[in-house]
Amino acid sequence: MSITTAIATAIEVRRLGGRIGAEIHGVDLRAGLDDATFGEINDALLRHKALVFRGQHLDDEQHLRFAGRFGPLTTAHPTVPSAAGQPHILPVDAEEGVRANTWHTDVTFVQTPPKLTTLRAVTIPAHGGNTLIANSATAYQDLPEPLRALADHAFAVHTNDYDYVQPQFENEAAHDYHKVFVSRRYQSAHPVVRVHPESGERGLFIGGFAQRVLGLSGTESRDILRLLQAYVTRPENVLRVQWNVGDLVIFDNRITQHYAPDDYGTQPRRLFRVTVAGDVPAGLDGRTSRVIEGDDAGHYTPASVA
Ligand code: SIN
Repeated sequence: MSITTAIATAIEVRRLGGRIGAEIHGVDLRAGLDDATFGEINDALLRHKALVFRGQHLDDEQHLRFAGRFGPLTTAHPTVPSAAGQPHILPVDAEEGVRANTWHTDVTFVQTPPKLTTLRAVTIPAHGGNTLIANSATAYQDLPEPLRALADHAFAVHTNDYDYVQPQFENEAAHDYHKVFVSRRYQSAHPVVRVHPESGERGLFIGGFAQRVLGLSGTESRDILRLLQAYVTRPENVLRVQWNVGDLVIFDNRITQHYAPDDYGTQPRRLFRVTVAGDVPAGLDGRTSRVIEGDDAGHYTPASVA
């Protein structure tokens, strides 16, 4: 057995939920990863959809290098500024009004949303401030046949411009953040059921940015999306990550949604987010996503990634 193989087989995958999530042990992400170890991590990601690496304490460059193993990086965000001097790092900072307490998949309002998200914990509240991650493939599998038939060939319009600031949490920072968030307006139509480009699994590809189902009225759209979304957020499908400073979490945006409960009051909470560019989503019949409004977000992500 070669040394490389010995290192590769040293990673330990400990499942967290019955349907989603695993903790990965026996790997130091500050060091470069050999190809075999990276392959095991990628396989674990495809299988478990969300991976937790405890106590990694990466710096910016190590974080970027790890995320970059999965493919070209996006810039931080289509509208929100990056961390100072780090065009690929998005600060997720409660004090700057970023409280992602809506179920969503990152940046689905553009035609090519990121394939995966990496988050590293810099400042964590003493209690609360967890991240929930849901498996949208098991949500799809749970759908009764008539609902599946309805979802299978539908397309939904996703937009960054909707009322996601909830009144009870409104404050000046949240309003300022929202203004920046919608400073350029995007709308894209995506298949409601997306076929995962690597695993072939089917998953519900909706979440908070999905506001309308093509061909239905606003009222009909809301009812249908609420109905489907309720399957995604069933507790069986959800992993709850309790953060410690230095942890790194990655999740597969092609087949998950996430939510950050706003339950930590005025305590500081800061994560750094790096996302990996994705491909154009495709549905069951091969039809792909398209831009409805806005540009192709070329400043954010390559038009298409193999
Ligand atoms: C995000 O939506 O990318 C942030 C998630 C979090 O704050 O836990």
